Amino acid sequence: LFDRAELAPADPILGLTEAFNADARPEKVNLGVGVYLGEDGKLPLMASVREAEERLVAQRKPKSYLGIDGMPAFREAVRGLIFGTEAQVLADARVATVQSLGGTGALKVGADLLHQLDPEATVLISDPSWENHRALFTRAGFKVEAYRYYDPEAKGIDFDGLLEDLRAAEPGTIVVLHACCHNPTGYDLSLEQWDQIVAVLDERGLVPFLDMAYQGFGFGIAEDGAVVAKFVASGQDFLLSTSYSKSFSLYGERIGSLSVVLGSADSAKRVLSQLKITIRTNYSNPPTLGAALVATVLTDPDLRASWETELGGMRSRIKELRQVLVDGLAARGIQDMGFIAGQLGMFSYSGLTKDQMVALRTEHAVYGLDSGRMCVAALNTGNLDRVAGAIASVRSK
Ligand code: LMR
Repeated sequence: LFDRAELAPADPILGLTEAFNADARPEKVNLGVGVYLGEDGKLPLMASVREAEERLVAQRKPKSYLGIDGMPAFREAVRGLIFGTEAQVLADARVATVQSLGGTGALKVGADLLHQLDPEATVLISDPSWENHRALFTRAGFKVEAYRYYDPEAKGIDFDGLLEDLRAAEPGTIVVLHACCHNPTGYDLSLEQWDQIVAVLDERGLVPFLDMAYQGFGFGIAEDGAVVAKFVASGQDFLLSTSYSKSFSLYGERIGSLSVVLGSADSAKRVLSQLKITIRTNYSNPPTLGAALVATVLTDPDLRASWETELGGMRSRIKELRQVLVDGLAARGIQDMGFIAGQLGMFSYSGLTKDQMVALRTEHAVYGLDSGRMCVAALNTGNLDRVAGAIASVRSK
């Protein structure tokens, strides 16, 4: 039987971390995976999260099972964060929310639900998109195609192409959209452009699936989440996956949520019952700690204020790092990469070719994705100079 198992290629993102970990060169820099590192090059434990964890440990609670859909306090807290605590759609009980294993887990539970309801639907993802979107929706059984998004000439969004592709999509097509901090390009739609996208999706009877993994890393928590209210206001059904890996620096706790916004409380009840079956038959119910930490931070006013300040600090530090990188490149004669400073979120879509990215890795121990994506959130004053020098070197070949 197992002779039939072929050797699969390494994951384009996490496989790179494996290669990085095996690299013995002390000067190595991992700009592959989307993880924010502090000035010391280490993963931060946010002060609010540490305090929440200390409080939880002091309670010495026994480790019971959570419900299939997760921790009620967590669900309520994140629904408030995403939709607003006073949102009418919550009061109307029109949102089905489950705790998930990070953003990826939310996408997979949502994909499984959609496939159960409409196995023939096509999924559209942006071109380019997060490397795992195509794989995940393909594995869930869908045909996956792409809509135009990035325009390499303009270093921005091909908005006309995007609208045209959405208008041409069959009703029922599932459209995966990045709510903020587009991964990998770092180019987001303006709110006016979102208005047009929301209207086209509605008119065409498409099924929006918003992926929000970087809330707070663009302009702010409210600003980055603003598109959600636009979808709610449009009255169309949609799905929304969120991740708290980055915004709470809780990567290993695998904590996220999936919400499905529907037209009635009855639909929400039926959808929730199906989501619970998907979860129960995959991993039964989710783990406790990440949910307890997020719920504690979001519901305690002091911890929440501290979290918002710290997240804001990460956001502005990334912007500074972008500028220092651009300046470092300019000082080495690379004048045409100023666009890095204006991109949003953790990534820079550098425009470097696959060969240049491979050369960065093999010759300079600087790890980024073959697509040219680099995680600028992993830069610091200790490695910036080397990275700028390495980029300049591969660009000059
Ligand atoms: C990334 O894009 O690097 C992150 O979302 C981590 C992941 O799971 O790929």
